[in-house]
Amino acid sequence: MTQDRRNRAWYGKLDKDGFIHRSWMKNQGYPDHVFDGRPVIGICNTWSEFTPCNSGLRELADYVKRGVWEAGGFPVEFPVMSTGETQMKPTAMLFRNLLSMDVEECIRAYGMDGVVLLGGCDKTTPGQIMGAASVDLPTIVVSAGPMLNGKWQGRDIGSGTDVWKFSEAVRAGEMSLADFMAAESGMSRSRGVCMTMGTASTMSSLVEAMGLCLPMNGTLPAVDARRQALAHLSGRRIVAMVNEDLRLSKVLTRAAFENAILANAAVGGSTNAVVHLLAIAGRVGVDLSLADFELGSDVPLLVNCMPSGKYLMEDFCYAGGMPAVLKELAPLLRPSLTVTGTDISAYAEGATCWNRDVIRPFAEPLKPAAGIRVLRGNLAPEGAIVKPSAATPELLEHEGPAHVFDSIEDLKANIDRDDLPVTPETVLVLKGCGPKGYPGMPEVGNMPIPAALVRRGVRDMIRVSDARMSGTAFGTVILHVSPEAQAGGPLALVRTGDRVRVSAARGELALLVDDAELARRRAAWRPDPPAYDRGYAKLYVDHVLQAHRGADLDFLVGKDTRPVTRESH
Ligand code: FES
Repeated sequence: MTQDRRNRAWYGKLDKDGFIHRSWMKNQGYPDHVFDGRPVIGICNTWSEFTPCNSGLRELADYVKRGVWEAGGFPVEFPVMSTGETQMKPTAMLFRNLLSMDVEECIRAYGMDGVVLLGGCDKTTPGQIMGAASVDLPTIVVSAGPMLNGKWQGRDIGSGTDVWKFSEAVRAGEMSLADFMAAESGMSRSRGVCMTMGTASTMSSLVEAMGLCLPMNGTLPAVDARRQALAHLSGRRIVAMVNEDLRLSKVLTRAAFENAILANAAVGGSTNAVVHLLAIAGRVGVDLSLADFELGSDVPLLVNCMPSGKYLMEDFCYAGGMPAVLKELAPLLRPSLTVTGTDISAYAEGATCWNRDVIRPFAEPLKPAAGIRVLRGNLAPEGAIVKPSAATPELLEHEGPAHVFDSIEDLKANIDRDDLPVTPETVLVLKGCGPKGYPGMPEVGNMPIPAALVRRGVRDMIRVSDARMSGTAFGTVILHVSPEAQAGGPLALVRTGDRVRVSAARGELALLVDDAELARRRAAWRPDPPAYDRGYAKLYVDHVLQAHRGADLDFLVGKDTRPVTRESH
């Protein structure tokens, strides 16, 4: 068995190459016997002080190592690029694919037999899984875990969700700037990821629904000692997975993706899950399309967490976490192998819900039919999405005149103009914020409500763009319009005053302009000149796929599991 292990090609050779691989590792104090062929477990760490959500991962890696040693493996931690969602410009999404390349090439180039992915902040989880899927070794995820509930002026406040609300309240003159500034410290008061059901907690919850981690990984708070124990157990489990040859592709089947889509609806998960699941599926060879997300459209909202509900991740964890949700979804779940070697149904067996206001029974949901809706029409031939659980129900069937912003700069310069010609019926349209246009498809789709309307008490209106929005955001926001404006999609042709029709029930996003007029506009249209002429950003813009294909780079789709045979010496 040991002769078959991948690490033997690095550490098992009794020649100059083996000497070099072992000798330099020994400068860290490793004795001879750890190179005896035992499973070498890479611990892929996205710890960074620029990624505060992942700031606990350096310590958490030590608990993974305990488990690996205990199970007879040899743990080796390595850093990869870390994408700090709140810190990177122009947007962390620009770098998700670069992180995935870093992860993929490190796993392939180093002599490991299995890998533990330590991620958390939004793009780190999908970026790591995308990279690992393209090498396909035994892989297990250990997430950073959410921050403790935010606390301010005697009440709970949630990452992101309350920032948007406070910001609007300041603009409406309902909140002082001093209070706004004071809320900062109470919002983020422990290490961990956003404690709303934002993208990070969505992805860690879906990772659990896909069976890529041990039960409760999705929700245990970052500072809960049980997360350290879970990291220890995950270290033990990855060694067994190497011995069982339980590779990522055996877990990441079509059934796992379908379970993720069902779970995303039940937890009120982020719209960002769509681009991430599509990109991961592309790496592992599962034929997933935007249309498959309609599978979740009739699934009710069960988890009462911001932004779709009122509680936070700490409450979700104490109420029973993902196992309790999977128990509610059990009749819908597809049989699917997990990293434990058992079916996903085993995660739900024995689960108990301890708070029925936080995790609702399937028959008494928070909202019916909460899954992400896919919209199509002459404004989005390849699709767009909306999240009904975070939207205003009356606006999901709407027709109104467009007010167009040609760029994010146009939006920022004009949205608060007192004379902006908009009414609550206006459809705000933002162009130039897709994968190629921004570039990087930022989270600006939930554009602010014009100040003049905020002062009149308007808190939601239809917004349409080729951008994404934060998983912590809310509103009737139509996102990921594909193809994007910069790629010549019909979004590029919309003009202020055109009428736009939205019907979530019919899955429609229509621009009510006749074909002859659109043809005239297309003949006159030119893309913006490229913003970058060198470096990674140019590579990204030249190769990024559109949102309906997950915004991966075209040359990264798929995997390469061939052994690396050449040496550097
Ligand atoms: Fe990192 Fe929300 S900003 S998880």
